[in-house]
Amino acid sequence: MRRIAILGATGSIGKSALDVIARHPDRFEAYALTANTRAEELAELCRQFRPRLACIADPAAGPLLRKLLRDAGLKTEVLTGAESLVEAATRPDVDSVVASIVGAAGLSSSLAAAHAGKRILLANKEALVMAGPIFMDAVRSGGATLLPIDSEHNAIFQCLPPEGGSFRDRGVKKVLLTASGGPFRLRDRSTMHGITPEEACAHPNWVMGRKISVDSATMMNKGLEVVEAHWLFGATSSQIEVVIHPQSVIHSMVEYADASVIAQLGNPDMRTPIAQVLAYPERIDSGVRSLDLATIGTLTFERPDFKRFPALRIAYDALAHGGTAPAVMNAANEVAVAAFLDRRLPFLQITTIIEETINRLGALPLQSLDDVLAADLAAREHASQLISRVQLSAA
Ligand SMILES: NC(=O)c1ccc[n+]([C@@H]2O[C@H](COP(=O)([O-])OP(=O)(O)OC[C@H]3O[C@@H](n4cnc5c(N)ncnc54)[C@H](OP(=O)(O)O)[C@@H]3O)[C@@H](O)[C@H]2O)c1
Repeated sequence: MRRIAILGATGSIGKSALDVIARHPDRFEAYALTANTRAEELAELCRQFRPRLACIADPAAGPLLRKLLRDAGLKTEVLTGAESLVEAATRPDVDSVVASIVGAAGLSSSLAAAHAGKRILLANKEALVMAGPIFMDAVRSGGATLLPIDSEHNAIFQCLPPEGGSFRDRGVKKVLLTASGGPFRLRDRSTMHGITPEEACAHPNWVMGRKISVDSATMMNKGLEVVEAHWLFGATSSQIEVVIHPQSVIHSMVEYADASVIAQLGNPDMRTPIAQVLAYPERIDSGVRSLDLATIGTLTFERPDFKRFPALRIAYDALAHGGTAPAVMNAANEVAVAAFLDRRLPFLQITTIIEETINRLGALPLQSLDDVLAADLAAREHASQLISRVQLSAA
């Protein structure tokens, strides 16, 4: 029986993970569930899964969560505040941690799980983008196991040979990250000014949280994934190629020295990679229907357009600059996406804000978590100032 902590249980990934867990009550126990503010959603999940621990980051939501659980006759222990997420991630009884909080808010708990030597099932790509070397050091020194949930990285993980070592030692030439191209793949940039949050969140293939949906629309999601692939697999930027594949059936590929290309395919449903890492190295039912290739008929591929979607170029540049540049990029993106979702920033300005913030703050050496947090804070402040100026000039 694996005892699982789900950080971000009320989100899209959290709920998909609980769906898989519910199919295998003999294998998995949802030991701890966490949320940010949504006490009612968390209480409903507690009624269903009866975890031993429920944590809510917003202290103001604690009394409501306690009342709802008391009314339901549950004995679930309730903790509140950001530090309660770290408690959920590090409890000695917890074996695996599904790290599915969105954004930088997930860093401290994911990192704590690494230090505590847990099996980390990582969806929270932003943690790795911000703090790649620190995070990977914590995984090594804590004796943790890091398994990727992100569908592309999970596909690469499945296509790589099981034994470790450098790409050269393993005969790997490069990884090919597939990208759907998002909802605006075919849209002319000159028509993108008035794009609304509703349009940006309407992804053609995947149902996801709002932040990652906007990241997919700008293609910053693929940019974040390039950095994520660098840290997870030790690939250099020239060993990471992005290919647009609108059907989202091939989730990514690995090319070997002999020009063999191994791909992982499946319907676009996050329960597949979640089930793969939950049960690894075994295989279990995920609830996802079988792939019907004859009905799909055609799989197509295109090169990414770096001019219409500058976010991808910005991410490759940030990876090349190294140091704190990816943390600055991530923070500026989070602030700009939040402003876009609040209708305070036009869609096309998201990447402008990110690029201007990186140009202003540059890349400083990254040696400690403090360096990461300082870069994150400075980028948030600078991006917010830039957004205020955009709003003033629009008024
Ligand atoms: N969705 C996908 O298909 C998908 C695919 C690949 C990777 N990912 C990655 O997985 C992560 C989660 O994505 P998602 O789409 O599941 O997001 P989501 O639906 O927005 O859910 C986010 C979760 O994080 C919690 N949360 C948000 N801010 C928090 C904070 N400050 N402190 C503590 N908890 C907080 C939310 O709690 P409340 O409900 O209380 O707000 C919710 O449980 C992201 O890093 C994303 O890039 C997602």
